[in-house]
Amino acid sequence: MKDTYILGIESSCDDTSAAVLLNNQMLSNVIANQAVHTEFGGVVPELASRAHQQNIIPVIASALKKAGIEKKDLSAVAFTRGPGLLGSLLVGTSFAKAFSMGLNIPIIEIDHMQGHILSHFIQNKDGNKVLPEFPFLCLTVSGGHTQIVIIRDYFDMEVIGQTIDDAAGEAFDKAAKIMSLPYPGGPFIDKYAKEGDPAAFAFPKPSIRDLDFSFSGLKTSFLYFLRDQLKEDPYFIDKHRSDLCASIQYTIISILMDKVSKAVKQTGINQVAVAGGVSANSGLRNAMLKMQETKGWKVFIPEFQFTTDNAAMIAIAGYYKFLRGEFTGQSAVPYSRGASKQKKNKAK
Ligand code: KG4
Ligand code: ZN
Repeated sequence: MKDTYILGIESSCDDTSAAVLLNNQMLSNVIANQAVHTEFGGVVPELASRAHQQNIIPVIASALKKAGIEKKDLSAVAFTRGPGLLGSLLVGTSFAKAFSMGLNIPIIEIDHMQGHILSHFIQNKDGNKVLPEFPFLCLTVSGGHTQIVIIRDYFDMEVIGQTIDDAAGEAFDKAAKIMSLPYPGGPFIDKYAKEGDPAAFAFPKPSIRDLDFSFSGLKTSFLYFLRDQLKEDPYFIDKHRSDLCASIQYTIISILMDKVSKAVKQTGINQVAVAGGVSANSGLRNAMLKMQETKGWKVFIPEFQFTTDNAAMIAIAGYYKFLRGEFTGQSAVPYSRGASKQKKNKAK
């Protein structure tokens, strides 16, 4: 078959990203982060869409250049249609439409969460990466989502468990905010946790039915615990930062892993992938690898560049839709929420 070049565009939250794939292999994956939100402790939607407008043309030019191709070589443009912040999504969606019209090539809409999962199918340059086989389970954990999904085929996915309140990434970010760490706090907690004792402080784990999750209670107990400690010692956080980070991280990971283990037992599927921003967490990655050693699971852990939001994951999903001839009309508009009705991280 003729070679396919897909341009992927991702603009659902606060990262503007463009990537080029040659069939299922990545040629480039350019990501522009938006530092503007740090001082607000969360993503400010209006600032995010303005920054996307500024970034999108240079990011796409850079992705094409790094891939060593020209616009006319592209076979199709894949873009994130949702879920995410509407103003942000609108920038990527409008650009994809106009660009594809100018080049007379099709556009392909991609669901952001399906993109995170399908990032596991991006093949490396040598073509020797072991890819998941259907069916497999995926723990999808980001700032807006926490789900356990059965993937039966590229676009045949079933959500079998999800959070009833906060997402795992939000739990990390809110705990970090309570400790006055910068936004997004997940990577900071991960960093300090490496020097701390996960058993230093115990926080209660919720009992939620089936394969669903809840993280809002954990945030509240962490807040109240620190409030009480700070009354006794105003320097409590400074003195115990690493132990606090290690303990809260340990609790979040055990909540996640308990439910994934339950899902493996219930479904009999022991190929398990993890995807989304929180899959960058070193504690979660180690916990997955441990299950591979001790329980015989076959685990799939994404490369760091594919954990947080990126356009390569949108391009690979676009590639599989391209092979099926599934294209999108010019009238497509973004959607802010997926079937799971989860929200993205907004400044609070
Ligand atoms: O997938 P993503 O980039 O954006 C969304 O779709 O939400 O995920 C962002 C989330 C944030 O909550 C961030 O704190 C979290 O991923 N995150 C981490 C780590 N790196 C990013 N959480 C824990 N440990 C990390 N190393
Ligand atoms: Zn994401």
